[in-house]
Amino acid sequence: MNFRIGVISGDGIGPEIVREARKVLDQVASKYGHAFEYAELLLGGASIDVHGVPLTEETVRQAKTCDAVLMGSIGGDAKTSPWYRLEPSKRPEAGLLGIRKALNLFANLRPAYLYEELRAACPLREDISAAGFDMLIMRELTGGLYFGARKTEEVDGVLTAVDTLSYNEYEIRRIAKRAFDIAMKRRKKVCSVDKANVLDSSRLWRKVVEEVAKEYPEVELSHMYVDNCAMQLVMNPAQFDVILTENMFGDILSDEASMVTGSIGMLSSASLNDTKFGLYEPSHGSAPDIAGQDRANPIATILSAAMMLRYSFDLDEEADRVEAAVRTVLKEGYRTGDILSEGCTCVGTARMGDLIAERI
Ligand code: IPM
Ligand code: MG
Repeated sequence: MNFRIGVISGDGIGPEIVREARKVLDQVASKYGHAFEYAELLLGGASIDVHGVPLTEETVRQAKTCDAVLMGSIGGDAKTSPWYRLEPSKRPEAGLLGIRKALNLFANLRPAYLYEELRAACPLREDISAAGFDMLIMRELTGGLYFGARKTEEVDGVLTAVDTLSYNEYEIRRIAKRAFDIAMKRRKKVCSVDKANVLDSSRLWRKVVEEVAKEYPEVELSHMYVDNCAMQLVMNPAQFDVILTENMFGDILSDEASMVTGSIGMLSSASLNDTKFGLYEPSHGSAPDIAGQDRANPIATILSAAMMLRYSFDLDEEADRVEAAVRTVLKEGYRTGDILSEGCTCVGTARMGDLIAERI
């Protein structure tokens, strides 16, 4: 089959990790007889350097001509990079938020899985990590505090800032359905996370999620307050299958979930709209401190490419193959520096990509 893939290499380690993911995709294409055509797109700092803004109409237009977009990472060092001397709406992150909104990518899937081989990296107590865990955070991505009205102004001589947390029932319903659909293909459990003891938006969230749950009688629904969830994630992560939550809570909890796996360098993500289109990116940032040194872990990006094969192209077998290749390489003891443990072989970014591609 033929697919057109938009590629946002981005900033920092972005170009090196995307290069390795493309290596693996090309290997999939040649093994399975597919043709992947790539279109390079600019976003974030790389776009600021060329166009003065982090996202252009042209990037959005080009992305819409693609079947999916694979992204590295965007952003730089906020202390030293000139990008951060620009006003907030012109900084790299604004480009990311802009493309999410422009492409209506409301469903953000962030799996957090504890690899047997990386158990030593898990910062949790051994009796907790022994149970393992395999969860998926379904984060709403185009609403809530991120996109509500905001302003900073003087009120009676006092500087005052306001951000608005707003959700309508339609936005909640569509993300809830996504979570239940995915749960049906997993262990059939959804834990909806909110702050319904305080927030109106959370009370509506809970009501709509309960309505949606009626359409999925096989799925077990539970509710959890976000503060409790933050605690449960370190106390008993094995209890979770799909965690469904709004944008800001999902931002925070997904970082926490990734940390309990021991390496954020392993975690993929997908941002989907209501078609087959999606934007796929590692959960980690652009790590400017190690950029260009062949030290970055490309696995999260490679696994994001696997998610692209699965969710946008319906190539489940090929996606399984990529994930299996990653596990094989880990079993064989190869590690990038971030996941290195005693007795393993330390390899660089490019070599890790080669090893995985060779095992496709
Ligand atoms: C993420 C990031 C972004 C977010 C930032 C870079 C705006 O933290 O993808 O989780 O908050 O959504
Ligand atoms: Mg985040």
